[in-house]
Amino acid sequence: MSEINRAHNFNAGPSILPLPVLEQAQKELIDFKGTGMSVMEISHRSKEFEAVLSEAEQDLRTLMGIPANYKVLFLQGGATLQFAMIPMNLRPAGASADYIVTGSWSKSAYKEAQKLGSTRSSFSAEVDNFNRLPAQEELKLDSQAAYLYFTSNETIHGVEFKNEPVAPDNVPLFVDTSSDFISRPIDVSKYGLIYAGAQKNAGPAGVVVTIIREDLLERVPANLPAMLDYKVQVAGGSMHNTPPCFAIYMVGLVFKWALNLGGLPEIQRRNEAKAGVVYKAIDESGGFYKGHARPESRSKMNITFRLPNEDLENSFASEAKKQNMIGLKGHRSVGGLRASVYNALPLESAQALVDFMKEFQRKHG
Ligand SMILES: Cc1ncc(COP(=O)(O)O)c(C=O)c1O
Repeated sequence: MSEINRAHNFNAGPSILPLPVLEQAQKELIDFKGTGMSVMEISHRSKEFEAVLSEAEQDLRTLMGIPANYKVLFLQGGATLQFAMIPMNLRPAGASADYIVTGSWSKSAYKEAQKLGSTRSSFSAEVDNFNRLPAQEELKLDSQAAYLYFTSNETIHGVEFKNEPVAPDNVPLFVDTSSDFISRPIDVSKYGLIYAGAQKNAGPAGVVVTIIREDLLERVPANLPAMLDYKVQVAGGSMHNTPPCFAIYMVGLVFKWALNLGGLPEIQRRNEAKAGVVYKAIDESGGFYKGHARPESRSKMNITFRLPNEDLENSFASEAKKQNMIGLKGHRSVGGLRASVYNALPLESAQALVDFMKEFQRKHG
């Protein structure tokens, strides 16, 4: 067999998918389960697609340990549409919602919620250029809030909560886990709502997974546009309209891949090993590489760091690219470099980056 050319893919999203998943999709592309059609060509009402959807849901339930009183939805509009759907559906008229602002994504969600009603910031790390997360005591929490919202991993700034913040009694906790979804075990029962755009850890762009505790559906007001109404989406089993069939098929394959590896504890072990070698290289560089996030707030998914000047940062990204290491330039709003080391990235890629970092420092340090 010829050697497969796969990049060391550090893209922030869309990003690397597991090779066995791509190979299976390739194998099934022309003839899915004897239908003589691909998943993109069959009816979403066919028994074959219904099986794809229900297996994806069941496998995710097993993987995350989702209790029976939670609904699982596969939606469209990206994570960004959830910024609006959450307050539209779950913040009753006249009520206020609390947001913990720890980076670009929670700030965007906060701003979207502000357009639609009363919204409070419980904390903001913007003065520190979003390089740290709050301690529980720093949160200014409203005990009457409709919900407390946070982003478990800020993809651009590279800060990630190790433990979820604690909401006041009777205030449900909502989380955007787009960039650390299924990267480690979490206790779903602590949350009212969990959502994630698929295109980092779970599959291609085009589908968002939203997990919602069913009692919260009672809050959904009448007469929302159907596509924006969680109750309509639940009633339609994520098929109120034609769903993104191929993206759902792909996330289903990723869930099976994760289960086969040993589930979220094993995925977490691998992620810690990968992030561990890269942070070690930063910490042992004598200040040549400087992490953006404070050590206690560091993300295991998006490692953000700087070099002594921008010229060196540009050469780092371009020289790395010549060695097949892709996607290392930081987001334009923060600058510097960012290595996204999602679930599907092999340890060898993280190690290749570390070797490159050492060599680059030897040449330019
Ligand atoms: C944490 C987080 N939330 C939300 C989004 C927005 O996702 P989408 O482009 O699917 O709307 C992103 C995208 O990178 C993200 O990283």
